[in-house]
Amino acid sequence: MDISGTTALVTGGASGLGAATARCLAENGATVIVFDLDATAAEALAAEIGGVAVAGDVTDEAAVTAALDATGSPPRIIVNCAGIGTAGRVVGREGPMPLASFQRVIGVNLVGTFNVCRLAAARLSDAGLPGVIVNTASVAAFEGQIGQAAYAASKGGIVALALPMAREFARFGLRVNTIAPGIFVTPLLGTLPESAQAALAAGIPYPSRLGDPEEFARTVKFIVEMDYLNGEVIRLDGATRLAPK
Ligand SMILES: NC(=O)c1ccc[n+]([C@@H]2O[C@H](COP(=O)([O-])OP(=O)(O)OC[C@H]3O[C@@H](n4cnc5c(N)ncnc54)[C@H](O)[C@@H]3O)[C@@H](O)[C@H]2O)c1
Repeated sequence: MDISGTTALVTGGASGLGAATARCLAENGATVIVFDLDATAAEALAAEIGGVAVAGDVTDEAAVTAALDATGSPPRIIVNCAGIGTAGRVVGREGPMPLASFQRVIGVNLVGTFNVCRLAAARLSDAGLPGVIVNTASVAAFEGQIGQAAYAASKGGIVALALPMAREFARFGLRVNTIAPGIFVTPLLGTLPESAQAALAAGIPYPSRLGDPEEFARTVKFIVEMDYLNGEVIRLDGATRLAPK
């Protein structure tokens, strides 16, 4: 699918992997709707790339609907990057993990991703328009570390969504693929001391460095342009495998 001339929705588009993706899609000729909880950052990025900012929560139907309607024609490229990562043992020093903590991570990462997919797909189905969805999982979906039970479960759910949705949406030509990133340099990770970042990088076989968000964005571009890729999950991780802790 050609990027030029299309409309794209990028959730979590104000920061990190989402921001790099929004920039890349805009550079390649798309009008990008930057959807994020952080209104100020979303507006700044939208202004930079000539896109449209919509502030809201991916779990909120009204906010997502407003984003899908922001440019008049439904976005045919949908990239779900909004997500949160929290660490916490199932049974910690203070007892069992509060159920609300588990539900919050599943809510934002998995339910939020599903919410955007279902509403975006309904628009394209009604309009009879083809398109492509790219969801963001994590290598934690496959090798969740101690303390990542909630995060890994949310990302495992995102991995499992790709095939049934790709099969269902084949009817109107909407592809669904997932990227499972390893460890990327985003604002989140940038807060770690350089020594900690170097230790993380040393565990990555090749290239032995952290991922650049621009590499994630180029993978989104490849997925959008490669029409034969559908229902797939792509690890983007320099062959890293997370250790138990
Ligand atoms: N950075 C990494 O190493 C890495 C690795 C694997 C997976 N991921 C995944 O990639 C995605 C992006 O991560 P990042 O590192 O760019 O993070 P980030 O924190 O830089 O960006 C995430 C963005 O999502 C927004 N957001 C959070 N909750 C939201 C909600 N409920 N509704 C709307 N927007 C919301 C935040 O405001 C933020 O702008 C996440 O899903 C994360 O789990 C990141």
